[in-house]
Amino acid sequence: MSVDLAVVPVAGRGTRLLPLTKSQPKEMLPMGRKPVVQYVVEELARCGIGRLLFVTGPGKTAIENHFDIDAELIDSLRATGKEELLTELAFEREDIEYFYTRQRRQLGLGHAVLCARPVVGSQSFVVALGDSIIGMHAQSEVVATMIEKFESSRCAAIIAFEEVPREEVVHYGIAQPRGQIDDVFELDDLIEKPTVDEAPSNLAVAARYVFSPAIFDCLEKTPRGKGNEIQLTDAVRMLIREGRQVLGVRLMPHEQRFDIGNFESYFLAFAEFAMADEQYGPSLQRRMGELLERYQR
Ligand code: UTP
Repeated sequence: MSVDLAVVPVAGRGTRLLPLTKSQPKEMLPMGRKPVVQYVVEELARCGIGRLLFVTGPGKTAIENHFDIDAELIDSLRATGKEELLTELAFEREDIEYFYTRQRRQLGLGHAVLCARPVVGSQSFVVALGDSIIGMHAQSEVVATMIEKFESSRCAAIIAFEEVPREEVVHYGIAQPRGQIDDVFELDDLIEKPTVDEAPSNLAVAARYVFSPAIFDCLEKTPRGKGNEIQLTDAVRMLIREGRQVLGVRLMPHEQRFDIGNFESYFLAFAEFAMADEQYGPSLQRRMGELLERYQR
């Protein structure tokens, strides 16, 4: 059976966005008209994911509530003659079964993925970070492409990469490709936050992965690394060192990654999504033009 299970870690504390994230999940922050994590789920549904496991943590119940069917709200919209708003709730009917597990201690992304092990067992699965949108309005098919490549190869993992400007490699896990870099390439290593001079490429890990269950054994053996957390990158490096094939897939130019993990990237992403809004985008663009003139004076 084709890979149809995705693990979406949403348990991080989002400390870089405090105080915004003190009592609301960063994955529920607005991005234009929708919360960030709704784009992630809609992208996965389009790519054939039928089962979705959220790894949640303290203060994240808003995510569970968001994906529930709210019969009371639907009745009230009907009773008050606001039927036209029902289309805004269509995402509730997405053909996906939701599952939830908890990361009881925030020990990093690798640990969050390991928390999925009792549910995932011996299946291959997708990991999609709940705080990253791929493509304007999440119009990306990269996960479907990755699943296809994963199934037609014998690899243990396949990871999405985005080309970033050379000076930005210091913020990301960077690919060290083996051989030529095509749309799909083999990984020799992954270097976490290298200096500009050390960086073996400008291809940065981009929030989407497909894993065989072999990743769990590596995560079990991965010691705490940077920030005293269990890093997913370290477990992927272990897979490569054990001689397993790990592939990379390059995001297409229209599949830009919108990461909302810090204020700069969140503000930029929000501005772009709002300016692309069908209804209010054009007036916002005009207003932004006026504001730019004022701020540049
Ligand atoms: P980040 O690496 O941005 O970490 O998470 P964070 O803890 O949320 O944020 P900061 O660094 O404190 O600001 C990337 C994704 O992995 C999840 C997050 O919820 C986010 O979707 N994550 C991270 C977990 O599920 N558990 C963790 O322990 C860490």
